[in-house]
Amino acid sequence: MIEEIKASELDSETFIASKVTEIKKIVGNGKAINALSGGVDSSTVTLLGHKALGASLRTVFVDHGLMRKDEPQGVAGTFKKLGVNVEIVDARKPFFAALKGIEDPEEKREAITRTFYRDVFGKLVRDSGAKFLMHGTILTDIDETVAGIKRQHNILTQIGIDTEKEFGYQVLEPLIQLRKDGVRKVAKALGLPEDVYRRMPFLGPALAGRIIGEVTPERVDTVRLATVIVEQELAKSGAFQYMAILHKDKVTGMRNGKREFGQQIEVRCWESIDARTARPSNLPFAALQSIAERTTREVPGVVSVTYNVTPKPPSTMEAV
Ligand code: XMP
Repeated sequence: MIEEIKASELDSETFIASKVTEIKKIVGNGKAINALSGGVDSSTVTLLGHKALGASLRTVFVDHGLMRKDEPQGVAGTFKKLGVNVEIVDARKPFFAALKGIEDPEEKREAITRTFYRDVFGKLVRDSGAKFLMHGTILTDIDETVAGIKRQHNILTQIGIDTEKEFGYQVLEPLIQLRKDGVRKVAKALGLPEDVYRRMPFLGPALAGRIIGEVTPERVDTVRLATVIVEQELAKSGAFQYMAILHKDKVTGMRNGKREFGQQIEVRCWESIDARTARPSNLPFAALQSIAERTTREVPGVVSVTYNVTPKPPSTMEAV
């Protein structure tokens, strides 16, 4: 049983000092590696790890082709300013190959996990000689995976995967006792910029988690364009998280007086503290209309935009 540290009881400076000591002790003179996605959890682990290990920690950004627009370069640029070099690894081919033909949500998550940790990361770790992988797992990830609700991509040891045996490295999870609000406090105390520590959560499986049905480069392009619009239009909403989801079913629409059997985008916008429960934001209708108008105009093939008004539970926040 992992002991939770509540954000209200967290002393960030003490937490950081104790984690730095712990990481140094475990890694010793060895090498470690971590994957940065730019989210608050992996960003916090990256800075914490560099504080403890300096150049002995190698940080990579795995570009699986499922990221939002300009995300790999944007994240590497932010960390460059903080003095951390981030290597971008092009892994688009293995990910799209692994996702080909898969429609089931849990199979999709499984394919992403395996490709990430065994194929792409396993190879990087083996090539680098690192024996440790630093990981931004938080308590909520574990709760939901262990409860069988949704397999979070980064849960390995907790579901019985022996990473040393299967992938050749030991996983270090310094944030495991925290939830998102606690991680944000630590991120701020570490000196991460505000746009990072306040950053909206974004899931590890990235846009693949927002595509119902098969994940193909074309379908990722569709949801990526819709995501830009939703994020721009709701940037000032103050909501916990907002997203565009691409549906599998097509619907009949019309454009320029002609029938168009087209795609559907679902918009979700959540109020939440820790992502365990959430309720849909009471958005002004004009904001929704503006998203619908831009999405059907700017995203090729989309003829329908809907808004989800169901809380979590029984919904979950992502669709996959
Ligand atoms: P759900 O969809 O489970 O999402 O209600 C709760 C929160 O977790 C994020 N999420 C993930 N984050 N890897 C992550 O790092 C995942 O596999 C994953 N699945 C969901 C989701 O964006 C929301 O903030």
